[in-house]
Amino acid sequence: MTTDSSVLSTMPTAKRVALLNRDDRLFHVILAQQVQRETIDHLCKLAEMIRTVAETRQGVHFLRTLLSHKRAMLYFIQPSTRTFLSFASACQILGMPYDEVRNPSVSSEIKGETEDDTIRVLSQYFDLIIMRHPVEGFAETMAHELDALHLSIPIVNGGSGKDQHPTQALLDIYTLLRSFAEDSGPKGIPSFAHDRMAGKTIAFVGDLKRGRTVRSLVYLLGRYPGVRLRFVSPPELGLEHDIISYMKRNEMEYETASDLGEIIGDCDAVYMTRLQDEYDIKGESKSIDYDRFRLSADMAPQFKPNLAILHPLPRRNELDRALDTDPRARYWDQVKNGMWMRAAIIAYIFNADAAILDHFQSHYTY
Ligand code: CP
Repeated sequence: MTTDSSVLSTMPTAKRVALLNRDDRLFHVILAQQVQRETIDHLCKLAEMIRTVAETRQGVHFLRTLLSHKRAMLYFIQPSTRTFLSFASACQILGMPYDEVRNPSVSSEIKGETEDDTIRVLSQYFDLIIMRHPVEGFAETMAHELDALHLSIPIVNGGSGKDQHPTQALLDIYTLLRSFAEDSGPKGIPSFAHDRMAGKTIAFVGDLKRGRTVRSLVYLLGRYPGVRLRFVSPPELGLEHDIISYMKRNEMEYETASDLGEIIGDCDAVYMTRLQDEYDIKGESKSIDYDRFRLSADMAPQFKPNLAILHPLPRRNELDRALDTDPRARYWDQVKNGMWMRAAIIAYIFNADAAILDHFQSHYTY
C-alpha cells in the first residue's frame, strides 16, 4: 500500500487511525484523532500515578525496572528543548536506555543516505522511535513504511511540521484538568474521567494557522462535550479549514474574536502561542502586528480568579514575563506535566500500565 503524505492527506481519518492503532490501543502515536476519551482519561490517571510513585526512593526503583529491557531512539531533526528533554527524562524514569539523533549532518545522511533508510536502520537497533520532523506526514509515512517492511516498532510523533503535536496536546489536557480540579482526592489522584471541561471557556491566541499544538489540542478537546472555544488571531494566521470542519462536524461550540481584551474576562483558560515564523516562505510575518495578540499583566484585573494561563513554550514577547509569578500561570506546570505524561505514554505503549496500576493500588489508598 502506498502511504506517502499526499495519499494520507486524502485518506479518511478513520482509516488513518485504524492503520496506526492495534486492537483499539495506540501503537504508533501520530495523530491526536487516534486518542479516544477513555484513553485520555487513562493516560492522565497513569501520569498522576507515576508522579506519585516517583516521590519515594522505592517507587523510583520500581519504575526503573519497568522498561529496562527496551531501548528508545529520539530522532529530533527539528529544534526542541522541552519535548526532547521530557521524553529523555521519561525514558530515564522508566529505566529505558535511549540514544539520540539531532544533527543528521553527523550521520550517514551526509553521504546521501535517505531519511527513510535512516529510520529503517534505526528500527533495527531500537524498540521505539520518538520523532520530531519539519515535514507534515513524515512520521506517519515512516510508521506505514516500517509496517509494510515488517520492521514495525512504535513511532511517536514529537512534532510534525505545522501539522500536529499530539503528546503536547495530551500534556495540555492533563494540565487543564489539573488546573480545573477543585479537589484532588486521596493521594492526589483526581478523577480525570469526571468532566471538568464542561462549561469551561478556553481561548487560543496567536498563530493558529501554523501552531501544531493548537491543532492537536482542538482535536482532543473535541472529546469533551460542553467545552467552549474562542480563537483570537491575526486574520492571516487563523485556523485552517480542516480544524474548522472538525469542530463543525463534532458540534463544538466556538467563536473567533479579533481582540483578546474583549474576551479574556470570560475565559477559564487562555492558551498563548508565539509567531511560528520559521514556516514563513518570504518573511510574510514581518508585516503582522503581533503585539495585539499579547497577554499582558495589565489585563490581570480582568482575569477570572482561577484563570489557567497556558503556553506550550518557547515564548517571545506574547506572554508578559510579569505574569510568571502569578499563581494562574500554568506554563511551568505544563513543562513538568509533559515529563509525567510522556512517561505514561511510553509505559502504555509497552503495556507497562497494568504493572503501574497494580503497584499503585498495593501501596496507596485509591
Ligand atoms: N512545546 C514544545 O514543543 O517545546 P519544544 O519545541 O522546546 O520541544
